[in-house]
This record gives sequence, C-alpha cells and structure tokens, in this order.
Amino acid sequence: MEGLATGFAYRDGALMAEGVPLERIAAEVGTPVYVYAANAMRARYRALAEAFEGQDALVCYAVKANGNLAVLRLFADLGAGADAVSGGEVTRALRAGVPPERIVYAGVAKTDDEIRLALEAGILQFNAESVAEVERLSAVARGMGRMAPVALRVNPDVSAGGHDKISTGRRGDKFGIAIEEAPAVFRHADALPGVRCRGVHLHVGSQIQDAAPLAAAYAKGVDLFRGLRAAGHGLDTLDLGGGIGVRYRDEAPFDLEGLAAVVARLTEGLGCRLLFEPGRFLVAEAGVLLSKVIFVKETDGRRFLVLDAGMQTLVRPAMYGAWHGVRPVVERPDAGLLPTDVVGPICESSDVFGRDRMLPPLDRDDLVVLETAGAYGAVMASAYNSRVGVAEVLVDGDRFAVIRPPLSIEAQMAQERMPAWLEAGLEAGLGATA
Ligand code: LLP
Repeated sequence: MEGLATGFAYRDGALMAEGVPLERIAAEVGTPVYVYAANAMRARYRALAEAFEGQDALVCYAVKANGNLAVLRLFADLGAGADAVSGGEVTRALRAGVPPERIVYAGVAKTDDEIRLALEAGILQFNAESVAEVERLSAVARGMGRMAPVALRVNPDVSAGGHDKISTGRRGDKFGIAIEEAPAVFRHADALPGVRCRGVHLHVGSQIQDAAPLAAAYAKGVDLFRGLRAAGHGLDTLDLGGGIGVRYRDEAPFDLEGLAAVVARLTEGLGCRLLFEPGRFLVAEAGVLLSKVIFVKETDGRRFLVLDAGMQTLVRPAMYGAWHGVRPVVERPDAGLLPTDVVGPICESSDVFGRDRMLPPLDRDDLVVLETAGAYGAVMASAYNSRVGVAEVLVDGDRFAVIRPPLSIEAQMAQERMPAWLEAGLEAGLGATA
C-alpha cells in the first residue's frame, strides 16, 4: 500500500486524524462521516503560497471542491480568496468571511439574480464565459448604476485533466470563448457601458498531473494578455484557473516549484495580479471518508465488504471510475490480505468503491476509510435511497468538531411538503383505493 496522506497516521495500530483517533469520531458522531485534517489543509495552502512567493499572486480557493463554511473560514484566515461558480457559492464565501474583493465568480449560466447578488457584494471579478453573458452583465450592472468588473474566460484549446469528464479547455468544450475570438470580444465588451474589462481567465481541466499542459495553456493566456494590453485594454488580472493534481494512488507528487518557475518566466514584467483557483490540491488529501462494515458477504468466489457509505456519499468511483484507497482503521499487520470488493448499500450495480482490493479479513462493525476524499466528496453527496445525509468533521490538532451533522430521515422529510389536497384526501379516508 502507498503511504498515508499528511494528517493521517497509525498510532499504536489505530488510525488517527492528526491527534484524534478515528474510532472516537465514529463512536461519537456515527458513520459514514467525512473527516478533514485542518493542518494538512493549511500545509497545502502554505506550500502553494510559498511556491508563488515574490509574485503578485492571490490563491482563490475553488469552493466547489469542498464548500463547508468551516473549510472556507480556514482558508480565509490564511489570506485566501474564493472562486465561486454560483450565487450560492458566493453567499457561502461571504458568510465564511472571505472579503468580497477576493472573490471571483465563474460559471456558464449566471442568472440576473446571481449577477445582482455578486455586484452588490462588490466582488473582485466576474469570469465571463460568453458574449451573451458579458452583455447581460453590462445591462444588469447599468440597471444598478454600477460597473461589473469582468475577466473573459478563454478556451486555449489545450487538452488536460485526469479524465475526459473533467477536461474543460479543449475546442468543443462548453467553457469560455475560443481564444482566437477573444480580441474581438474584448473590443465589443469594452464598448459596453456597464462592464469594465479587467482580465483574462482560463482553466483547462482538473487532476492534472504534469505541469506541461498547464504551462502550455498559461503561455497562450499570457500571449493574449500582452496582445490585449498592446491593443489598449487596461487589464490588471490574469486568472490561471485551478487543476493541480493530487495523489490518489501512486501518482508522483505535483511539481509545484516547477510550475511556479514557469509562471515566473512567462509573466516576467507583466505587471498584473495573478489569480489561481486550486480546489482539489488544497483539500483532497486532507480528507477521508470514514465508514463502517455492515456485512461481509461471500458468494460465487468473491468477498464483498458492504459499507454504510456508498455512491450517495462518495460518487467519484461510480461517476468517473475514480480510485480511492481503502484502509482499515485498526491496523492488522499480521493478518493475511484477501482480495475484496468494497461496495456500498445503494441498489445500483455501479455502487462499487473498488474491486479486488487487498485487505485484511475485516468483519461486521469494523471501520475503514476511503482515502483522498476531501475534494469533490461531501459536496457531491446526496441522500439517494433515503440514506442519511452526509456528515462532516474537522479535526484540528487534538480537537475536533462536527461541521455538518448527519441529516436524519426525519430531518429530510421535514423539508418536504404535502399538498393540501392530498392531505385532505387521506384525512377524509379517500386515500385508499378499493
Ligand atoms: N476553476 C474552474 C473554472 C473550475 O471549473 C474548476 C473545477 C476549478 C477552478 C478547480 O479545479 P481543481 O483545482 O479542483 O482541479 N468533480 C470532479 C472535478 C470537477 C472539477 C470542476 N472544475 C471530480 O470529482 O474529479
């Protein structure tokens, strides 16, 4: 097995999140539960900040990766900004204490209400994805007597990303404006009364292992930026997006210093603020999904470990075929390893975390973790099959706190409403059919 991520280690045979045994969290909070290691998140942020030290760079944490208010606050306290993709995410970032002048707002479908909300808050910039959006930004801002600060998202036609479904910067993807069309769109946008064009934005994909495709995209972005400046556009931000990959299995650690050196070389003398939008890099390895074995089932020569967490808790394996390591919470160094299929409780064949994982002979009520679950885990969870809504815990040294309690079936049903005519029907005894 590969090594554990920072923040998680065995002590006397029991897996700990920083100073807290995971067994204790399971006993006090229940399972399944996401557990995050605060100092591991901070270390990731600092590594990034140090790599770009000396450059005028702002790290805008991508809220979509893990939008819990506590996680947002943790990064805000370190000086991070936020990259939001909806009015909801802008609201979360503000509530968590991210200063509005550090919030960028992207997304292909901003509604008038969302635009208004962000304008009222006074965010750093809208990352606009289409001509139609720029025109709408102008109209809404004008109606409010304001100017919308806008960066145009360009599609540099670079293929990057760990999976077809998370690659965004190729020709034909729905994001941004083709880079060749950008100069004309900037001319058009600059003539609109309600927008102030301030930057170029690009983001080419996620879980990118290697600095080369990022560097290729950045180079195209910088060329465009210089050209636009030369044409007289008063730009002052260059947003280079997110996408830095992490270790799920046996990937080499991302070469941050190498990337930072490329950025320094490319942007030499540019004299603008650089924005970055990392999500996964900051949180993925700092989180695990803690889960309990409900049954062990042996049939047809296969051994299944059936967990209380499933595709409704962590959808990445079912959705992208993603790999997440599985580890027992109590170490069993002397036990032999058995090929084991690790599955969830959901009534779908795709509810499988991994096949033929080599695991000790775990039993009912034993605890396991799914590793590298801090990004795109809890945020993509649902309560499918009327399972309990996902819970989250933040560990910080020897302390821990529930940062989202599990949502019981009673609490879920309390959010639903019965139409008066159906309620009346039941009361009048009309509910049953003969
Ligand atoms: N900026 C923009 C415009 C984005 O679309 C994204 C991610 C990011 C920044 C942050 O990317 P990161 O640094 O986290 O790679 N649910 C998928 C990942 C989807 C990523 C969507 N956009 C997964 O579980 O792998």
